[in-house]
Amino acid sequence: MDGGGAAPVGDGEAPAGSLVCPEPTERPDLWPWTTRRRGDGALEVGGVTLVDVARDFATPLYVLDRADLRGRARVWTSAMAEEFWDGYGMSGGDAFYAAKAFLCADVVDVVTAEGMGIDTASLGELAITLRAGADPTRVGLHGNNKLDAEIELALGAGEGRGIERIFIDSLHEVAQVERVAAGLGVTARVMVRLKTGIHAGGNEYIATSHEDQKFGVSVADGSAMEVVRAITASPHLELLGFHNHIGSQIEGTEAFVAAARIVMDFRARVSRELGVSTREVDLGGGVGIAYTGADPVPTSPAEVARSVAATVRKAAEETGTSVPHVSVEPGRSVAGPTTVTVYRVGAVKDVTLQGGAVRRYVAVDGGMSDNIRPALYGAAYTATLANRAPHGPWQRSRVVGKHCESGDIVVHDVDLPDDVTAGDLLVVPATGAYGWSMASNYNVLTKPGVLAVEDGSARWILRPQTLADLMALDPGLDAD
Ligand code: LLP
Repeated sequence: MDGGGAAPVGDGEAPAGSLVCPEPTERPDLWPWTTRRRGDGALEVGGVTLVDVARDFATPLYVLDRADLRGRARVWTSAMAEEFWDGYGMSGGDAFYAAKAFLCADVVDVVTAEGMGIDTASLGELAITLRAGADPTRVGLHGNNKLDAEIELALGAGEGRGIERIFIDSLHEVAQVERVAAGLGVTARVMVRLKTGIHAGGNEYIATSHEDQKFGVSVADGSAMEVVRAITASPHLELLGFHNHIGSQIEGTEAFVAAARIVMDFRARVSRELGVSTREVDLGGGVGIAYTGADPVPTSPAEVARSVAATVRKAAEETGTSVPHVSVEPGRSVAGPTTVTVYRVGAVKDVTLQGGAVRRYVAVDGGMSDNIRPALYGAAYTATLANRAPHGPWQRSRVVGKHCESGDIVVHDVDLPDDVTAGDLLVVPATGAYGWSMASNYNVLTKPGVLAVEDGSARWILRPQTLADLMALDPGLDAD
């Protein structure tokens, strides 16, 4: 078989065009912080080898490096605290973890212990966040089509106290939140989600602030001002400030800076035209991460916070307005690199293409049900061996799942050792964000569990689904 000519790992730089997955020492940003290749070739995360994990817990599974999650949360909170420090004439900064990236009680514990609030976008996310013990005053609720039940829970109906930030997405929602708040006899603290016209993000489906998409109210066409007027006219609503989430998987700081300026200018207009001053600005999430060796090293939270802070300060000065309290809502950049997916290799098939070239298909025991991102967004991932050190000769390979679709691709193109065989363990890095959270039961595959590893021990933070869990949903399968 064609070896592809790439150099073995450890024998210096791979040649140009190589798609060999970078080792943790080569691209630490791609891997959970504690990942290392042991002397015997096995990959280890959190002091636990993935070989042991696969044997004890079965594949496929997600493995989350808890120390890494803690570190990434801390990096965001300290970047925001530092760059928006009161001593620089700012009013403080804050980071809210976007729960949609990956949510369970342990994640809430870890990120809130590092000072993050939680940003939610559904009844389920809000309910889990509150049940996990997050401080309601540090929780937000998003959504472009909120249910009354979501707003009720957010306003403290039933149990506990209400949350402090509901993001208003339309004029329709002003009336809806007002009605629910009036019914409960409370005041809802709200922010307005702006559409700033900025088009950014790794894929059309995840760009969220250009005009022709469903989120937010437009600054340009006047709907944002209309919503602000309606809010300020309501006795049950208190306007905290303005929000903008421009998109996801964004490189660099330019788009964030441009959006921050538009938000600040709009805030100044509200103050000028309506005499309403506001104290909060939330600039959403969106900072990108690396998925493969071809991706650039990601922009750091500190860089984003620094450039946005400079813009906010300048805009406040130029418009003669106060410096707001600024928050962000990172999801992917907190959870994404903390987690790897471990699969076991099954069938390996060489397919002869037109012209005689051979494409190798390496099938694993999961697929589009545990990672829909390649099929949905054309997202690129990489993979390497977890049970032994990878080495050349290499074979350009396509890692596929076990679903009944030819689009069930885990990694489109990667150079794997030529001798990859059934029983090998393949590991895919950077699956912590939008992996488990977008997983499905297609072909009645059960969702893999998420195993947290730390200091040499491993435990489920989300148990794997069982077939019995799924069968229990079907009344036609009830035992007689
Ligand atoms: N805030 C709001 C209002 C959002 O809508 C989102 C993501 C975030 C924060 C967090 O953005 P992040 O820091 O994670 O980029 N399923 C897609 C990503 C969808 C993002 C939706 N909103 C994917 O797998 O790429």
